[in-house]
Amino acid sequence: MTKSVFVTGVSTGVGKTYFSYLFLKKLGQMGMKTLYFKPVETGGDQPEDYTICSGVASYSHQPIYHFKNPLSPHLAAKMERRKINIHKIKEAVRKMRERKDIDLIVIEGAGGILVPLTEKYLYRDLISDLKIPIVVIASSYLGVINHSLLTIEAARKKGIQIKGFILNFIREPENIAEQTNSQALRRLLGKLYLGEINSGEEILSDKITKKLIKRIFQNR
Ligand SMILES: Nc1ncnc2c1ncn2[C@@H]1O[C@H](COP(=O)(O)OP(=O)(O)OP(=O)(O)O)[C@@H](O)[C@H]1O
Ligand SMILES: [Mg+2]
Repeated sequence: MTKSVFVTGVSTGVGKTYFSYLFLKKLGQMGMKTLYFKPVETGGDQPEDYTICSGVASYSHQPIYHFKNPLSPHLAAKMERRKINIHKIKEAVRKMRERKDIDLIVIEGAGGILVPLTEKYLYRDLISDLKIPIVVIASSYLGVINHSLLTIEAARKKGIQIKGFILNFIREPENIAEQTNSQALRRLLGKLYLGEINSGEEILSDKITKKLIKRIFQNR
């Protein structure tokens, strides 16, 4: 089965797509074949995350569902009087994982790990049903320590494998909380803490890339 990683975040707008873009670009430069997939995308006339990441992935799969309202999938679907069929998403992933021409499948969630896809089915359920490990993306804001620890606890509760945690700086730190989050999270998360992405960064650091590859491919 082709290796896969699920990019989740501590919230919406924290840098899941930004990280996916940098990671896919880096893997491409290393000669690896990648596939990007965001099963459900909400907001806009066109799926923006898909457009961004398909530019750097070797292959990409269109979202199974795209809804115009920038809302949680369960609500965005409801607003359009549509229903998300989880089986369809799982089937698409199953087929992707059978492909022999891909080294890594990168799947992006929407918002955070406990965001509902349907009235009762959360992203966490999908990740756990598919048995795909996660990488957690957070951005540096007041409150992110709590959101990060909650996300990791929520994943562990369902036995989801966590390959690492990355702190993304969307902008330069502006206050003492934003400046010191990295130290606190590094201390609290230990080995899970892979490093940071700086504001405006165009390349994913070798340190983060190496650690992630090792953990994903050698299952460490
Ligand atoms: N390191 C960074 N430097 C500069 N801009 C960034 C950085 N990370 C993210 N951004 C910008 O912040 C915004 C939100 O990031 P992004 O779209 O990656 O979040 P997301 O977690 O994928 O959100 P969603 O839940 O909507 O998928 C985007 O406009 C993105 O370009
Ligand atoms: Mg995104």
